[in-house]
Amino acid sequence: MSQSKDHFLVVGGGGREASFALELIKDSVVSAFITHQNPTILDCVHSSGGSVLVGDVCDAESIVHFASEVGIDYAFVSADDPLANGVVDALLESGIRTVGATRAASRIEWDKVFSMAVVKEAAPAFTPFFEIIDRAEQIEPALERFVLKAMDVVVKPQGLTGGKGVKVMPEHLRDHKDCANYALKLLNSRPDEQVLFVEKLLGTEFTIMGLTDGCNLVMSPASYDYPFRFENDTGPGTGGMGCFTAADGKLPFLTDADIDQCESVMRCVLESLDKAGTRFNGVLNGGFFKTAKGIRFMEFNSRFGDPEGLNVLSLLDGSLAEVLRTIESETLNVESISFSPAASVTKYLVAAEYPNRSPSPSEFTVNLDGMSRMGLTTYFSAAERVSGNRFTTLGGSRVVAIGGTGQDIASVSDRINQGIKQFVTGDLDYRSDVGSQVDIDRMTESRQ
Ligand code: GLY
Repeated sequence: MSQSKDHFLVVGGGGREASFALELIKDSVVSAFITHQNPTILDCVHSSGGSVLVGDVCDAESIVHFASEVGIDYAFVSADDPLANGVVDALLESGIRTVGATRAASRIEWDKVFSMAVVKEAAPAFTPFFEIIDRAEQIEPALERFVLKAMDVVVKPQGLTGGKGVKVMPEHLRDHKDCANYALKLLNSRPDEQVLFVEKLLGTEFTIMGLTDGCNLVMSPASYDYPFRFENDTGPGTGGMGCFTAADGKLPFLTDADIDQCESVMRCVLESLDKAGTRFNGVLNGGFFKTAKGIRFMEFNSRFGDPEGLNVLSLLDGSLAEVLRTIESETLNVESISFSPAASVTKYLVAAEYPNRSPSPSEFTVNLDGMSRMGLTTYFSAAERVSGNRFTTLGGSRVVAIGGTGQDIASVSDRINQGIKQFVTGDLDYRSDVGSQVDIDRMTESRQ
């Protein structure tokens, strides 16, 4: 192992952590504490001279032990469960330089009631109407207020549910009565938690991530995610079937003023957390809606989105290691970080049953060299290598992402579709319409 390179620890095992590893090996040694033998991460660890351990990524003690044993210089944690379980706190307590939100700071993600209250206080004009439910008898009167305002409702559990707990009216809950029943079910099944009723926002959802040391904030290009399982946004919600960013850093339906407003909400929230004694560190990931009445806040994550992080990191100019070092030392230099003026698209391949668990693993192949020749990057997620270019799915999650960059969104989308058709075999499914010209045209019209 070269002495001059810093040694980074990545914690996780998905496509997002694969993208961290791919960026970090450009100038650093990468070790990884991972959920399973992720082929991309393993390749990065081995080629950079690092070490790997498979284990429970919420087991802070084992992660600290591994990090100390291999002598890492910096840890980077950017996955929801480890953050919520205090992995960053444990690493910091043991004296390891770490980038990522502490448990207190990541509350902005793992407690939806808290985050809505923080935004209402810090940036009230951007906050949707909401009601917090502690007890069953509050449900009917709260819903009555939504009826009076002629608003549909989004019902959110307070805590993390891996994207599976939020239900929207009328897509998942037909009417206010269904909302009441679901809220009651949540109060009973998650007795230590509150339930949040939020105004269903009408408009287009998007994400903007900010890299921050708690004070300085570097905004990334905005991204548009495809959470629905099937083409044309049908079927159940998922962790995200794909995502794109545009070459100008905005999305076809956003203006500069929209982006400025999102940035101001994020700055207000960071200041508010800081004033309350919680300095945020890492990636503040803002979910917003562009509505007819302007920008509205939807939710925060305390980490890179997956796949949004893959898109953004594929455009980062310069060294991720350097960015992380300056976040850790609280010297993040806004002027020195930039993103290539290119479009980026990522598409996830999943098992046919996804988002449900597959009854059994299935084998597939990816011609990695072929993808690479097309200028496409392969990021394995819930998959392991059988041998060479033969891999197997692991059952529940998204399997492998293919990403690319280029001049415009639709041509990158087409190139990924071609790459998948040509270089992937096996029973995997994906959304060919992620970043399609039809979608881009529809979004561009909605801005006019
Ligand atoms: N793409 C959604 C997420 O990262 O939570």
